[in-house]
Amino acid sequence: MNFDLSTWPEVNLQQVRASFKEVPLSAYPELSAYNRDGIHELQMGQGGLFLASDMAKLLKLKPGMRVLDLACGAGTTSIFLAKHFGVSVYAMDENLPDSLIERAAAAGVSDLITTTKADARKLPFAQEFFDAVFCMNAFFYFATDDLYPPYLMRLLKMGGELVIGSPCYRTEIPAVIPEEFLLEFPACLAVHSPGWWRHHFEQTRDAEVLHSELHPRGVEFWDDRVRYLLEAQSPTKMEPWMRDMIYAMIRMRNRDTDGFVSHFMLHARRQRRT
Ligand SMILES: C[S@@+](CC[C@H](N)C(=O)[O-])C[C@H]1O[C@@H](n2cnc3c(N)ncnc32)[C@H](O)[C@@H]1O
Repeated sequence: MNFDLSTWPEVNLQQVRASFKEVPLSAYPELSAYNRDGIHELQMGQGGLFLASDMAKLLKLKPGMRVLDLACGAGTTSIFLAKHFGVSVYAMDENLPDSLIERAAAAGVSDLITTTKADARKLPFAQEFFDAVFCMNAFFYFATDDLYPPYLMRLLKMGGELVIGSPCYRTEIPAVIPEEFLLEFPACLAVHSPGWWRHHFEQTRDAEVLHSELHPRGVEFWDDRVRYLLEAQSPTKMEPWMRDMIYAMIRMRNRDTDGFVSHFMLHARRQRRT
């Protein structure tokens, strides 16, 4: 990428947009019913339903399973999981919008979605209540404490599975790092590498980690998100925080020439503590 950021966005918007590649819809045949708006609808992070679909594939969901959508935001992933897999989803977030109930009804899945407003560190569910936990683009905000994974794993039935999809760094951040990589400071200090997250779960002995790797499209998801947001609305009409966020992502992608800032998925199974 080699455009002049000093002119963004008023002068060079088309050039900026064109510099960011889309994830092709054709790469996800299971999402053929969606257009770009549907993929990113009310999503607060990167990857949209592309990432959600890859995460769900790891879980092997079956109708009737009870799934916690942890920190679900507006609940687009909750609706997706209910609609595509027939699972019973507990859509939970500390800022859950009322609109989720109407959106679930419009999607024909209101009987499969239960909404819960709560702090992820004080979850109002019984132990061994869930078959699966799904958490997209949110885990680092509340889960870096050593005691969080054992707390969360206890909500899963024995053998139940967890999937996380989230921004990450390829390795732990070094002492000296380009300022542009520190997105959403200080939240980025809780963004770790796939290896760090693997250890975070394995050390508890409650979890068998089956996968904790960079997502093959982990870098592309940033570009796809920037492209989508710039096409959905002109920066001149955006709320300042949104404009600043996109600008920060563009600066990061301009500086990160070898994919240090990416996304990963972690898949783990609850096991009896050894
Ligand atoms: C970047 S958004 C992602 C939301 C959603 N999973 C998605 O993919 O669109 C992060 C979400 O984490 C939620 N969150 C952060 N800290 C939380 C906490 N301690 N308890 C519950 N939710 C929390 C926020 O309210 C927000 O909805």
